[in-house]
Amino acid sequence: MSSKFFTPGTIAGLEMRNRLIRSATQDPFGPKDGCATQEQIDLHSEIAASGVPLIITAYAYVSPEGRSTKIQVGFCNEAHYASQKNVLDAVHARGGKMILQLHHAGQAVYFVPKDMEDPAPLSPMDGIEAPNGLLTHGLTEADMERLVQDHVTAALKAKEIGFDGVQLHCAHGYLLSQFLDPNFNQRTDEYGGSAENRFRFIRRILVAIREAVGSEYPVLAKVNTNCAGEADEAYAQDILYFCKEFEACGANAIELSGFDWIGQGKSKNHNYYLERAKAVHALVNIPLILVGGVRNLEDIEAVMEAGIDFISMSRPFINQPDFLKHLEAGEASPCISCTKCLTLYAKEGRRCILHEKPEETTA
Ligand SMILES: Cc1cc2nc3c(=O)[nH]c(=O)nc-3n(C[C@H](O)[C@H](O)[C@H](O)COP(=O)(O)O)c2cc1C
Repeated sequence: MSSKFFTPGTIAGLEMRNRLIRSATQDPFGPKDGCATQEQIDLHSEIAASGVPLIITAYAYVSPEGRSTKIQVGFCNEAHYASQKNVLDAVHARGGKMILQLHHAGQAVYFVPKDMEDPAPLSPMDGIEAPNGLLTHGLTEADMERLVQDHVTAALKAKEIGFDGVQLHCAHGYLLSQFLDPNFNQRTDEYGGSAENRFRFIRRILVAIREAVGSEYPVLAKVNTNCAGEADEAYAQDILYFCKEFEACGANAIELSGFDWIGQGKSKNHNYYLERAKAVHALVNIPLILVGGVRNLEDIEAVMEAGIDFISMSRPFINQPDFLKHLEAGEASPCISCTKCLTLYAKEGRRCILHEKPEETTA
C-alpha cells in the first residue's frame, strides 16, 4: 500500500481525499453538436461516486474551428455551457470535483467541417496537410488575439457555472503543443525558434486567463515532456523552461504527459514519463501530476517516491469506471494499454477490448 497516495492532498487549493485524478478523456458517447450527452453524465457520475476526488473533463473546443472530431464536446456556445453544467452538477452531487479542459485542435482536425466560411485548420504553419486533407492556415496576429479571447471566454464561463478549475491543453499534438514542438513549429517570427519564442503564444493565453479569473481560481496546464525524433534531445531542456514558465505565469499545477503515450502503452511500458517528471520536479515549486501507464500500486509507489504528488489515469477508468475501488483492494488495472478504446465503441458498441461484446452480454 502506497505511503502517500491514499492520503489527502491539496491541488490548486482543491482538497482531495487521495492523490488520484481521472485525466481528460474523450468518451465515445459523443454528441453531434458538441453538447454532453446523458451517457456522459452517467459515466462521470459513476467515476465520482467511486471516490475519485478530481475529474478532468474531455477536451472541450473553445473555438468552433478548434474541433478535432465529430464526437467531441465543445465549450463555446450557450448550449455547450448548459450541457456541461449537467455533467458538473452530477459530479458535484457525488462529492467529486471537476476541471474543464480547454482545447483547440490546431491542425489535428479529422473531419471537414460544414457551414464554416474558411474550413482550413489553423496551425503554427501555413500549408501543412491536416488529417482531414485540407491545407492549414498559419496563425496571424489577428487569429492569435481571437484565440486568446476564446480561451478567456471559456475560462470565465467555466468559473461562472461552477467548474472547480480549468486546464489548458498544451499536449498531444493539438494547437498549443504544436507551438511548443519544433517538429510542428518552424516559424521565423517571435513565436518560433527558441523555447522562449515557442512558449510565447501560451504565455499570452495563460496570462490573459489568470488576469480574467483572478488569483484564486485553479488554472492547470497539461504538456508533453518529450517530442519526436532528434529534436527531443533539446526538448528535454526546453520542457524545464516551459514548466518554470507555466509556474511564473500563474499555473497552479502541471500534468506531465508525452507525445507518444499510445506507442508507449503498446510497448507494455509503465510510468512512461517518470524520468522527465523527476527533472521537472527538481526545478518547479507547484504540484505536478504524472499521467501515462500508471497501472498498479508498485507504479504508484515509484511516482510517490520520486516526490510527484499526484497521479492521473485515463484507460484504467475506461476498463473499470470504479477502478479506484479495485486499487484500494490492492488490485492492478486489467488494462493492457492497447488503446483500442480510441475507436472500438463506434465499431462494436463496447469501450474496451476486455469488455464483453454487447450481443454476448444480452445473449
Ligand atoms: C479514449 C481516450 C481519450 C482521450 N482523450 C483525451 C482528452 O480529451 N484530453 C487529453 O488531454 N488527453 C486525452 N487522452 C489521453 C489521456 O488523458 C492520458 O494522457 C493517456 O491516456 C495516458 O494515460 P493512461 O496510460 O492512464 O491511459 C485520451 C486517452 C484515451 C485513451
